Amino acid sequence: MRILLTGGTGYIGSHTAIALIEAGHQVTLLDNFSNSKPAVLDRLREITGVTMDFFEADVTDEDALDAVMADRSIDAVIHFAAPKAVGESIARPLHYFENGVGGTVKLLRAMDRHAVRNVVYSSSATVYGLSEDLPLTEDAPTSVINPYGRTKLMCEQILGDLFASDSSWNAIALRYFNPVGAHPSGLIGEDPQGVPANLVPFIAQVAVGRRPALTIFGDDYPTPDGTGVRDYIHVLDLAEGHVAAVEHLANKPGYDTINLGTGQGVSVREMVEAFERASGVAIPIEVAPRRPGDGPASWADATKAARVLGWTATRTLDQMTADVWRWQSHNPNGYD
Ligand code: WQD
Repeated sequence: MRILLTGGTGYIGSHTAIALIEAGHQVTLLDNFSNSKPAVLDRLREITGVTMDFFEADVTDEDALDAVMADRSIDAVIHFAAPKAVGESIARPLHYFENGVGGTVKLLRAMDRHAVRNVVYSSSATVYGLSEDLPLTEDAPTSVINPYGRTKLMCEQILGDLFASDSSWNAIALRYFNPVGAHPSGLIGEDPQGVPANLVPFIAQVAVGRRPALTIFGDDYPTPDGTGVRDYIHVLDLAEGHVAAVEHLANKPGYDTINLGTGQGVSVREMVEAFERASGVAIPIEVAPRRPGDGPASWADATKAARVLGWTATRTLDQMTADVWRWQSHNPNGYD
């Protein structure tokens, strides 16, 4: 199948492009480089040997969406392109709603005009809010506590309403837990702009000497070692989950939401220790008060993905940290 990846040069998108090529599909990447770099395209060619079809555009530009779909026979779309920083969403809600929600509506309308009605949507476990009823299943109550989370839940609801209005649509919303890791080649990886908000890219930047120390946000949580616990999933496992989802859509119509996680919780301190094992570099830490909006623990019940998609995460914590270290140590300043 030919799959259009919006946000295709981003962290998750670029890894998913590789997994799709390796599964025998063709890809078209669409991106505006607002949170990625053109260099990713060269790296993808180096890894896959394929010069990927690329279309520079903003997902809110309906003429561009018509153009990319008119010139190609697209079988399905995986929609990654959206702003994704919790803190930024609180400061810039309209930017998040215009691009995260508005972009999704414009994409779906363009798809409808071109009779492309298979979509995999990049959602997030953030829709569960601070639920402590773990592991989280897909029918756990949703509770969004910031504009970013609201954009994710709204887009899921838009897809549900669209399918209810016209059953020719097929959609799966994938709720990511905490994506980390990098392609084992070390050629592509997470390259956050500015100061990393997320734990693992921050640790990686400490390890290569770009940051003096990691600040642990709270070590007084009701968890085994007092630090926050999350379900970290290797980005290649996540990518393969997207391949399974888009292939599932081709055979089984409908609308569904599916968790992509490992089902295992890992604490901040455990992640630091794993990174030290992988890099051989001691990570200086300072403990600070809890970060507003953070909960103590979150991990997935990943059984639905196994049942519905025949997919489970396989890569270990040590593989995650070894792959991040290879990427970061070979690219201390990311793609710059
Ligand atoms: C993980 C743990 C922090 C940084 C967020 C979004 C979620 C998704 C993934 C987009 C927590 C601790 C972190 C640091 C720390 N993003 N931490 N020092 O908050 O679980 O999820 O990113 O889809 O939607 O909410 O991930 O990596 O920010 O934090 O101690 O410098 O690491 O307190 O316990 P989070 P994270």
